Amino acid sequence: MTQYVAAIDQGTTSTRCMVFDHSGRVVAADQVEHRQIFPSAGWVEHDPEEVWENTRRVTAGALAKADLVTEDLVTVGITNQRETTVVWDRATGKPVHNAIVWQDTRTDALCRRLGELGGGQERYRPRTGLPLATYFSGPKIRWILDAVEGARERAEAGELAFGNMDSWVLWNMTGGPDGGVHVTDPTNASRTLLMDLETLSWDEEICADMGVPPAMLPEIRSSSEVYGKVRGRGPLSGLPISGILGDQQAATFGQACLSPGEAKNTYGTGNFVLLNTGTEKVMSENGLLTTVCYQLGDQAAVYALEGSIAVTGSLVQWLRDNLGLISSADEIERVARTVEDNGGAYFVPAFSGLFAPYWRADARGAIVGLTRFVNRGHLARAVLEATAFQTREVIDAMNADSGVPLKALKVDGGMVVNELLMQFQADILGVPVIRPVVNETTALGAAYAAGLAVGFWSGEEDIRANWAKDREWTPRMDEAHREEQYANWKKAVTKTFDWV
Ligand code: G3P
Repeated sequence: MTQYVAAIDQGTTSTRCMVFDHSGRVVAADQVEHRQIFPSAGWVEHDPEEVWENTRRVTAGALAKADLVTEDLVTVGITNQRETTVVWDRATGKPVHNAIVWQDTRTDALCRRLGELGGGQERYRPRTGLPLATYFSGPKIRWILDAVEGARERAEAGELAFGNMDSWVLWNMTGGPDGGVHVTDPTNASRTLLMDLETLSWDEEICADMGVPPAMLPEIRSSSEVYGKVRGRGPLSGLPISGILGDQQAATFGQACLSPGEAKNTYGTGNFVLLNTGTEKVMSENGLLTTVCYQLGDQAAVYALEGSIAVTGSLVQWLRDNLGLISSADEIERVARTVEDNGGAYFVPAFSGLFAPYWRADARGAIVGLTRFVNRGHLARAVLEATAFQTREVIDAMNADSGVPLKALKVDGGMVVNELLMQFQADILGVPVIRPVVNETTALGAAYAAGLAVGFWSGEEDIRANWAKDREWTPRMDEAHREEQYANWKKAVTKTFDWV
């Protein structure tokens, strides 16, 4: 009997369930979007109960669509939007506040205050690999404990639990208040600003500094081992859950970037470039993050350098939802093709401040270079180009940190169907851009982590063997033109600083 592995991908805009066969092919998928809640400028929330309800819906939906039953599956993996913070009551399973999303900048003043205690933005980098920034979970937990009456006391008493979406989904799948397993993996924990990158354990000093009681934190286990079993009457009931990877690390795994020097770029809500640096932690001097890439069972952790870009695909959504300049995300390519170039316009989408390589919470978005000549097509182009320019900035930083220039970039995610963008990306980087046959690398990576733990796949060779190239874009732009446009972009970025 053919058997399969299921992966749950709890992302920023939607929750998906995908089922994979041994060759890494998608045999079933279902997806539901959840509400984006914007209580005020710079704030972004999700409703954790809605997300959990959607998780149940998509797992049932995926199985039903492909006529599968629980017995067809061997195990389940989880991958998730990272950093997004949920605090819930262990006894009732009710969140005490909406989830604070990774893009949310409400902890800006708190981060600045912590930096002023000494060390500034670099205060925790030696231990965590991260700058002190609103992006990460620690300050978000602190914010919830300060804002919700009585929460701190209850957290100290062990009554409240913290989790990123991986822990929230896992805890609920394994029984919730009735014995739910409260666990995370090092890839997620490495994004909290609370984990020591070397020991892969919570750093008590930082927790104390940040005002986060250790009693509320999940246990950190490896990315690939059996954490528990699915409980309840749902379609996965009784199956083990045996893999957890933050979504960007999962995509790196699914892209088979398993050796030092291999890198991928995922084009989602934001863009995230990860470079595998092996068992060596490379500390960035150019605005990148050092993060855990994966840890398989009792093997040594593998690390990565990461360039995180907050806004790329979500800028296309913004153009659709907030300006109505396009009616669907796919339309952007057609509109952009109505013109030859950007007409001199540059769009810097600093909606959550700027992440890598700048880490500027004071930045806000700007469109510059406007003249009366600029039309809808030029703006559509400027929107797409913003993704490519931001990617170039983090690849430049990566080349400087690693000392070895990247020779080609593997890409995945929703925007890689956009041929105009992919060609422009290759042009602006000056290296080939390569898309794999299975573009669902995030869910696939989580399936691999889960499947490896139970022997469904036997090792990294299986993962490499399953990876196949679909398309490659080679650079066509001459160097002088490329560098001129990039210099314009850099100038545009400087116009976004000092707004708050
Ligand atoms: O760090 C945030 C990242 O994990 C979000 O990914 O694909 O949900 O936008 P995505």
